[in-house]
Amino acid sequence: MFTRRTTLSKFLIEQLKGSKESNDLAALLVDVAAAIKAISAVAAKGALEGNTGSLETVNVQGETQKPLDVLTNEIMLRHCDWGGLVAGMASEEMEEPFAIPAEYERGRYLLLFDPLDGSSNIDLNVAVGTIFSVLVHDSAQPPQLQDFLQIGKKQVAAGYAIYGPSTLLVLTVGRGTHGFTLDREIGNFILTHPNLSVPNETSEFAINTSNERFWEPPMQRYVEECKAGKTGPRERDFNMRWIASMVAEVHRILIRGGVFMYPRDSKAPNKSGRLRLLYEANPMAMLIEQAGGLASTGRGCLLEKQPEQLHQRAPVILGSRCEVERIERYHHEYDKGEDQPFVSPLFNERSLFRPEARA
Ligand code: AHG
Ligand code: MN
Ligand code: MN
Repeated sequence: MFTRRTTLSKFLIEQLKGSKESNDLAALLVDVAAAIKAISAVAAKGALEGNTGSLETVNVQGETQKPLDVLTNEIMLRHCDWGGLVAGMASEEMEEPFAIPAEYERGRYLLLFDPLDGSSNIDLNVAVGTIFSVLVHDSAQPPQLQDFLQIGKKQVAAGYAIYGPSTLLVLTVGRGTHGFTLDREIGNFILTHPNLSVPNETSEFAINTSNERFWEPPMQRYVEECKAGKTGPRERDFNMRWIASMVAEVHRILIRGGVFMYPRDSKAPNKSGRLRLLYEANPMAMLIEQAGGLASTGRGCLLEKQPEQLHQRAPVILGSRCEVERIERYHHEYDKGEDQPFVSPLFNERSLFRPEARA
């Protein structure tokens, strides 16, 4: 028997009916989805196509590029530059915004993306992804750098693809967060995860703890308290995950909750965190907030942070509402000098772990 399934195009036409955004936005997201299908195919080939290892080139972030960083960037550009839908594009892999070639019409959208997120994992066959953000450019003039520097609240769409055992596209046009699974035999994205919802409470956190000594005290306090589990002030055990692919961490949080943190640190003092505001932090923040979670810099709403540079980095704390609110409170208390640094019971006066007790 034939069952009617909701394809991405059908879903987008229905979601955008009566909204301020025209069918052009649906058409652009279908182009992005086509690029994602192509990326999924090349990522799946792995070493068969010589896509492993590193290149000798370095991107604007100072990071050594992988063959797939360059190829996936090209795939995104070529799928989206021709249709008269975008006014300009910007990517992690390009220092300057990409101007639409003269032979094509320009549209009213700006497309910003990280073509391959978690690319350090590609040789390990661990899940990687693509992240994208869509902004409006309401001008007949070609966009200037300044036009890309819009706060996250102005995004009209955001999403990511995750290339794991299956390929999923998760997106929002400001009416909830929805997931589509790629049916490879038919070549369509099918709605499989409608109305994703991040639970308010969680006992799972994700952070790269090797940076602990570089964090600010409120972050050290939060993670210390989680690690202390039942014996600490939180009075319950926490679980930790770190995949080093933001798409995989955010996907986990959208499926079962949790909190993800890449906070400000003093490792590279001229950089404010690790993740890039415009094409990593903002789209993920919109997806999480559309699913009922919260996204913060630790000191305020991430989606309200004014970008000053295209490749600017930002502290990112996102996920289950209660944990993000708690982390914001710890920053606030620290800034006002009101925080109580947490001392783990493992190291208190009666502990066997005290240096003198062990001597
Ligand atoms: P990219 O591969 O696009 O440079 O991004 C990698 C990011 C993100 O996916 C992940 O959360 C973080 O970098 C991993 O950082 P660590 O290397 O500190 O684990
Ligand atoms: Mn990335
Ligand atoms: Mn990347």
